[in-house]
Amino acid sequence: MDYASPPRSIRIEQASLDDLEELYELERKCFGGDAYTRSILRLLLIDPSSIPLKAVNAEGELVGSAIGRIEKIGGRILGRVYTLDVRPDFRRRGIGAALLKRLEEEFRRLGCEKVVLEVAVDNEPAISLYKSLGYEFISRLKDYYGRGRDAYRAEKDL
Ligand SMILES: CC(C)(COP(=O)(O)OP(=O)(O)OC[C@H]1O[C@@H](n2cnc3c(N)ncnc32)[C@H](O)[C@@H]1OP(=O)(O)O)[C@@H](O)C(=O)NCCC(=O)NCCS
Repeated sequence: MDYASPPRSIRIEQASLDDLEELYELERKCFGGDAYTRSILRLLLIDPSSIPLKAVNAEGELVGSAIGRIEKIGGRILGRVYTLDVRPDFRRRGIGAALLKRLEEEFRRLGCEKVVLEVAVDNEPAISLYKSLGYEFISRLKDYYGRGRDAYRAEKDL
């Protein structure tokens, strides 16, 4: 499958504060009690360093989202992926990959050297997606999501 574009009938657009409630609902569907809170999502949506994206179907429903952020660390400009969510009934259609590729394009355009992200070590769908897009798993972060819940840090040069 070619992930450069989303599947036909799905549009990827910039998200805004107007999408907060729907984004929060989607985040809860994807992560339950581990979802970002509404106030963190709000901060991410209004932060000028953020790149908030949404995937919308032909009926105008929100079916996916991704939020990235430009960060300067030690004089280097990085793109960090904060969220990547696809509505459960729209998975395995290339939407997650298309959202991530769009974020990567934006990061590249804004001068980022690489993309960094964290993912729970047991999140097989996300790990498979990142591997399929060329991410390298560089370290394991102990207790990153709470006691006994480790993460991998993954990176991709742009
Ligand atoms: C991870 C997630 C975003 C993937 O979204 P998606 O739209 O289903 O992914 P895509 O259809 O673009 O998948 C692209 C590739 O990733 C891999 N992949 C995705 N889901 C997979 C799964 N459940 N099992 C194995 N591989 C998977 C496959 O290689 C897939 O290609 P293929 O379908 O041709 O085999 C989605 O499962 C999700 O929202 N999960 C809950 C939230 C989450 O965990 N987000 C990531 C946080 S780090």
